[in-house]
Amino acid sequence: MSSPKIWTHKGTFLLAAVGSAVGLGNLWRFPYLTGENGGGAFILVYALTIALVGIPILIAETLLGRASRKSPIMGMQYLTESHNTSRNWRAIGWMGAFAAFIILSFYSVIAGWAIHYTGLMFSGSLVGADAATIGESFGDLLASPGLLLTYHTLFILASGLIVGMGIHKGIENGLRFMMPALFVILLIVLGYGVVAGDVGAAMSFLFTFNLSDLSLEGWLQAMGQSFFTLSLGMGAIMAYGAYMSSEASLTRTAISIAFVDTAIALLAGIAIFSLVFGSGLEAGQGPGLMFVTLPIAFAELPAGWLIGGVFFILVIGAAITSSISLVEPVAAYLVERFGLSRPIAVTLMITFCWLLGLLTVFSFNYWSEGTITHDWFGRSPFDVLEFITNILMPLGGLLIALFAGWALSREEVLREMSTNDTWFECWQFLVRFVAPTAVAFVFLRTMPQIDGYLIPAVGSVLLIGAFTAGRTFIQRQS
Ligand code: PHE
Repeated sequence: MSSPKIWTHKGTFLLAAVGSAVGLGNLWRFPYLTGENGGGAFILVYALTIALVGIPILIAETLLGRASRKSPIMGMQYLTESHNTSRNWRAIGWMGAFAAFIILSFYSVIAGWAIHYTGLMFSGSLVGADAATIGESFGDLLASPGLLLTYHTLFILASGLIVGMGIHKGIENGLRFMMPALFVILLIVLGYGVVAGDVGAAMSFLFTFNLSDLSLEGWLQAMGQSFFTLSLGMGAIMAYGAYMSSEASLTRTAISIAFVDTAIALLAGIAIFSLVFGSGLEAGQGPGLMFVTLPIAFAELPAGWLIGGVFFILVIGAAITSSISLVEPVAAYLVERFGLSRPIAVTLMITFCWLLGLLTVFSFNYWSEGTITHDWFGRSPFDVLEFITNILMPLGGLLIALFAGWALSREEVLREMSTNDTWFECWQFLVRFVAPTAVAFVFLRTMPQIDGYLIPAVGSVLLIGAFTAGRTFIQRQS
């Protein structure tokens, strides 16, 4: 047997996980969700979930990867066998792969929009344009399946190319160059936002806490977002964790990832809202915040085309370092399980994701509002995909927490965590009780508001999870 693959440097896991975490979630989704949900209150709930639920699960997921040193699906199989626990836990690997698949399919389409906007900015075609024109140009993009497909294809090919080159030559080398560059670009855009925009308004919007601004659905979104932004629950972190050096500290690394990820979301929020408010525009524009509102601001600001173009490059880069972490778990599985070569495994993965991405592409044109094919259980196909992942991610996270908290032996966890007892107890309490309760609570409170028929489904999965956890625990004791 060949020796397990490990990142070249002790710190590479941190770099890779931050690359995975920082993406459209930080630059596009976080600002628009915050805008829609009243600002500070949303951020408060989001930050609390990151600290109490996100970080403990991040530690757990990394631990599962490193303890198994395999791709998530094979890794869960190995862990359930070596720990003699219920086979049901393998669902963690399968659900993760399934979610990664769905996410990549729409992630790539949306990242493609950023390619389009990079072109629009640098060509100067939006300079001086008014709000209506810019709104229309976004509409035109969405109405064109050809354009959307071209960008979707380009983006997914680029991601596949990097992963296909292997974890050292492709992923590590790519990240080592891209991550610092992205950070510098963010600082440039932030500096520009501070000078050209209204930072005061942005700060007070982001940091004024008024809990009554937050709806129940806002709570669910804040939690969903904290999983999404930390790349939790779909095997990405587990797959990268499998290559993590045994010497790196799990706790310290997880806290750093969460810290950097949150800091970047906030910095992006400050930059974007400074520009948006500075131009007298509204925060609550939904997904169009980055693709309509922000370009309107850039269109009227001095050198807006240049900074705007650079900003959209940041978006593409951040999205690529995330999408490669979605390709890796499934590709690694295909390599391990079927002995495929890496390029072939990657090609298979991205081909199917590309096909699934057609659902998202067509949701905005052929199947857009008003057409019969638009309505899939009252949502567009794209909304359905997003909704499924909003459920799968917390659910995957919940199962990871339960498995690491209840099914793994104390010795094994301590060996991986190599931390003192107090920290260990604290983490264990969080993954055993706090994280599962928080996830279950928000699920049960909000589901009726969203879709009545989902309660039985989610409820039974929660019950099966609790039952499996309980049984494993009892087996362990006897
Ligand atoms: N965390 C990424 C982002 O914020 C999205 C992502 C989710 C990437 C899950 C990988 C896995 O954009």
